[in-house]
Amino acid sequence: MFSHLFLAASLALLNFVASCGGSNEKLTLDPTTTTTTATPTPTPTVANTQITWNNGANAIFATHCGKCHDFALDLPQLKAKQQVALARIKATSNPMPPSSTPAWLADKNKAIEFLSMAELK
Ligand code: HEC
Repeated sequence: MFSHLFLAASLALLNFVASCGGSNEKLTLDPTTTTTTATPTPTPTVANTQITWNNGANAIFATHCGKCHDFALDLPQLKAKQQVALARIKATSNPMPPSSTPAWLADKNKAIEFLSMAELK
């Protein structure tokens, strides 16, 4: 009698496990639905901080130009030289500064970005 109950219980348990397995199979993803392309997470549009005289350009021009040119230490004077300075920084022959350093190369794009603004501020 006891063994019969035990057997019945075991069978019920087996059945339960089997039915769990059965329902698990339904949960496995249908291969045809897994091919849908994932929607890329939109990259947050972080406003690129525009360089200004006070937030970086002053230091860049003082460091890389100021030891030879007083105009590079003063915004109104640099404004007067804006186009020629931009041209000389971009120039491949006789560029400014006359000798390039790793520090200058790290700042060069910022200097160009600054001098390319319609109105230096
Ligand atoms: C080591 C000194 C030195 C440094 C540093 C230097 N210059 Fe010059 N620069 C000169 C000399 C010397 C001349 C004049 C000869 C010539 O035109 O090549 C000159 C000429 C110029 C001229 C043309 C002449 C004028 O006054 O209109 C501009 C513009 C200029 N430099 C901009 C810059 C800028 C911008 C920087 C920094 C990114 C810079 N220079 C860094 C020495 C330097």
